[in-house]
Amino acid sequence: MKVLIATEKPFAKAAVDGIRTIVEGAGHKLALLEKYTSVDEFYAAVADADALIVRSDKVTKEVVAAAKNLKIVVRAGAGFDNLDLAACTERGIVAMNTPGQNSNAVAELALGLMVYMSRNNFTPGTGSELKGKTLGIQAYGNVGRLVAKVAKGFGMNIMAYDPFVPAEAIKKDGVAVAASLEDLYSKSNFVSLHIPATAETKKSIGYALLSKMPKGGCLVNTARKEVINEEELLKVLAEREDLKYVTDIAAENQAELNEKFGKRVFATPKKMGAETAEANINAGLAAANQICKFFATGDRTFQLNK
Ligand code: 3PG
Repeated sequence: MKVLIATEKPFAKAAVDGIRTIVEGAGHKLALLEKYTSVDEFYAAVADADALIVRSDKVTKEVVAAAKNLKIVVRAGAGFDNLDLAACTERGIVAMNTPGQNSNAVAELALGLMVYMSRNNFTPGTGSELKGKTLGIQAYGNVGRLVAKVAKGFGMNIMAYDPFVPAEAIKKDGVAVAASLEDLYSKSNFVSLHIPATAETKKSIGYALLSKMPKGGCLVNTARKEVINEEELLKVLAEREDLKYVTDIAAENQAELNEKFGKRVFATPKKMGAETAEANINAGLAAANQICKFFATGDRTFQLNK
């Protein structure tokens, strides 16, 4: 079988080497398409692939149509909003992700961004500490749980809101359970987003919630830009001169935000939550193992399009 890694944002070399060892060790071939600059390159590379490993690369219905032999696609990472699951299902292609594998890297970055914003974007001037501040975690999944664990080390007070996780499972970590999203936003000095981008969550974070944050509040987004209502974010930042926004996924209107609000906003130059060798190795090797197991035994653990 031919396994293609198609990554516009490449894996660390150690991850590619590890994937190659697993894939070739199982008797398959590995092909590599990195830093491609047009979808045509992707269409050409995927044409004879039996399996595909991607990161945030968009597996659209056009990619699926171009991939005549494709049997399985694995998103090496958590969020799978980049996969057209319906197109995969229609063609009988199994789609998977690798949940939890890059969570620690994202959690560490979330805390790093909080420190950065608390310390005047690392420019001279008196900053503040995370210790004693309240952190609201929106969605208590793999990343949310790790953010809580790391934030505890900083001495933060932590609360979380997740309607899909039983309150007891949150409380056992020493994390308070917010009664509602409004409750979370109104009590948190920092809110850290860990929701996926779905039809329900897109544009769900806007004026109503952000205007409830206490003085000096900071929204931390290592999730997806699509969950933010960007027009309303702009409005609330203009009205509330104390609020801050830090993101790992630049907003569509980021240039305007930067120009209007200066150091109160910051976006990383490219999404780098999962940009660590460890995260690449964890997620990349998990993807390779899942593919080999699927070909060897038909194993469909982590299948998304059931
Ligand atoms: C994920 O959903 O796993 C993260 O957003 C990481 O995405 P990346 O692999 O494109 O860095």
